[in-house]
Parts: sequence; structure tokens; C-alpha cells
Amino acid sequence: RSRIFSGMQPTSDSLHLGNYLGALTQWVALQDDHDAIYCVVDLHALTVGPDPAVLRERTRRTAAQYLAAGVDPARSILFVQSHVPEHAELAWLLSCQTGYGEASRMTQFKDKAAKQGTDGTTVGLFTYPVLMAADILLYGTDLVPVGEDQRQHLELTRDLAQRLNSRFGKDTVVVPEAHIVKATAKIYDLQEPTAKMSKSAESPNGLIELLDDPKVVAKRIRSAVTDTEREIRFDTAAKPGISNLLTIYSALSGTDVATLERQYEGKGYGDLKKDLAEVVVDFLTPFQARVNGYLADPSSLDAVLADGADRARELASPTLDRVYDRLGLLPRR
Ligand code: TYM
Repeated sequence: RSRIFSGMQPTSDSLHLGNYLGALTQWVALQDDHDAIYCVVDLHALTVGPDPAVLRERTRRTAAQYLAAGVDPARSILFVQSHVPEHAELAWLLSCQTGYGEASRMTQFKDKAAKQGTDGTTVGLFTYPVLMAADILLYGTDLVPVGEDQRQHLELTRDLAQRLNSRFGKDTVVVPEAHIVKATAKIYDLQEPTAKMSKSAESPNGLIELLDDPKVVAKRIRSAVTDTEREIRFDTAAKPGISNLLTIYSALSGTDVATLERQYEGKGYGDLKKDLAEVVVDFLTPFQARVNGYLADPSSLDAVLADGADRARELASPTLDRVYDRLGLLPRR
């Protein structure tokens, strides 16, 4: 069976619909036929300078949302990145194999650094993709289910893996592949349907958070930006707003886009939005109840995470030992 690894940052109280459709639903689907490892990447979240109490709370909330979406700790490993110190250790080794120019070309870093200015940007934000590569390479990962925005980071991870193998021996690490499902790889902002849905969007009105009040969510869908035509048709260039709504509708209902187009022939945008709002609310209501159930019992949640960390560490530790050895670090005994 092939190995899956993926993670999300606990940088918000709630995941959003982009995280859910772009990644989390794939995670859940892949558990059946693969050995899956899912991580709450709290070390990555430190790059945004969170308040300590808030970070702790968001780490649990993120794990609770994985569980509520259907990540099953009986089949998959679910853990918190900082509980497995091998991540930070391998990241250092990899950072010494990463070109400064290579890291400087990461577009997410360039975008964030441009907003924050040189003095507001940390070295951690710069080396963030190297830590991500360490996450993936520690577990001999074959496939990494992510959204489109992580493609460049995955390319860097592959380059680093190939470099290690050519410098230090051909099976030092496994070269992973991105698993990006085209239809839902990029969910767009409801108010600005050419920009990706993101927690750092300027207006909250374009965002659907999984833990938002369903009434607010319904309202945001009804006021989503569309276009001045009337026809309900999937056409990302001419009709990005409607296409995004169709993508979300299709992914949540399991009805393909062509069938939806037929179903809405002769109907108006208002009908589509009203029905989609219902589909989304019907998904969110039980999801939120499940999240609240997990959060009501933090000690059980912590026990799941502790067990996951033990299992993850058992897999990570031999990889780290091998890389230490291949790089020429003197063994302790
Ligand atoms: P993060 O926390 O920003 O996002 C988590 C996942 O959600 C996907 N995603 C989207 N997919 C579709 N449409 C959107 N609008 C959208 N917004 C976000 C992301 O692609 C991601 O899959 N660097 C990673 C976290 C990470 C990681 C890893 C991932 C750290 N180590 C190892 C995989 C493997 C990140 O910031 O994701």
C-alpha cells in the first residue's frame, strides 16, 4: 500500500470550504486504500506569530475538524507536528541542501514577504517550505493530497528528495508526488471569484468557514458575485462566479456539473444560490455538531493525538537516523 501524508496549519478557528474540498475530502477518501498520515502543522503556524493560548486552542480545533470530516484514527495516523521532534531535525538537514535562490523563488513566500516587508518577515517564513519537505520525506510518502496552491512546494520537495538520493545514495528518501484533484484544486472567493478562497481575504464575505453560523453562510452564498448573463453554465473564463458555485455544489452533492447544468436550464441564478445554500447548510449542520462533540471532550482528543504521535514517531525515527548517517554525522555510540 502506498503512503499518504498531508497537513494543515492551525492558523484560524475554523477551516474553510477550500481546505475542505481541496484537501480534506481527498484525505478521507484516500484512507481506504492507503496508509495515511495526517498532521496538524503547528510549527508552520508559528510563522504567523500567533498568541500562545490561541495557537493551542486552534491546534485542537483543527484536529477536531479532521475527525469530524471523517479522518479515522483507527485507520490513519492523526497527530500534531511538534509532538514529533524529527520534523524540526530533518528540516535543518534539508535546509543545508536547499539553495538560497531556490527558496527565494517560492511564490507564497514572495507574496507574504511583499505584504510584510523585510523586517516584518521571519527566517521561519522563508524556510517554511523546507519544513514542509521534511514533513513529507520523514514518512517515505508516495502521495501528498493538497490544493493547487501547494504545487510549487511539492516541486521543491521532489527536487530536494532527488538531490539527497543523488548525493547520498539512491534510496535515502522516497520521491513523493502531489495528488491534486483538478475539479476542486482551487475553490474561489465568493466575492472575488478569480482569487482563491483564503482565510486572509480582505472581506470575510467571500469566505465560507466550516464553523460559521449556517445563517451567515447561506447569506454569503446568496450574495456571491456572479455575472450579468442569465445562463447557468460552467465556463471559468467567462463565468468564474457561477463556475465556482457549480464546483462547490457538485463536490458537496456528488452530482456532476453537466447534470447540474441540465437541471438548472431555464432557471435563474437566484434558484441556484438558494439550493446551494441549502446543500451547504445541510452539510455544515451535522459537521459542526460533530466538531463540538470532539471539543467537549478535550482529554479524549488529546489521547488520540498522543497515540498518533507515538505511531508517527516510530515511522519517522528510522528515516531521520538514515539521513543523519548518510550525511556523515557521527553516530552516538
Ligand atoms: P494550508 O493550511 O494553507 O491549507 C491546507 C490545505 O487546503 C488547501 N487549500 C485549498 N484548496 C482548494 N481551494 C482553496 N481555496 C484552498 N485553500 C487552501 C491547501 O492546498 C492545503 O492542501 N503548506 C501547507 C501545510 C503543510 C503541508 C505539509 C501540506 C505543511 N506541511 C506537508 C502537505 C504536506 C499549507 O499551508 O496548507
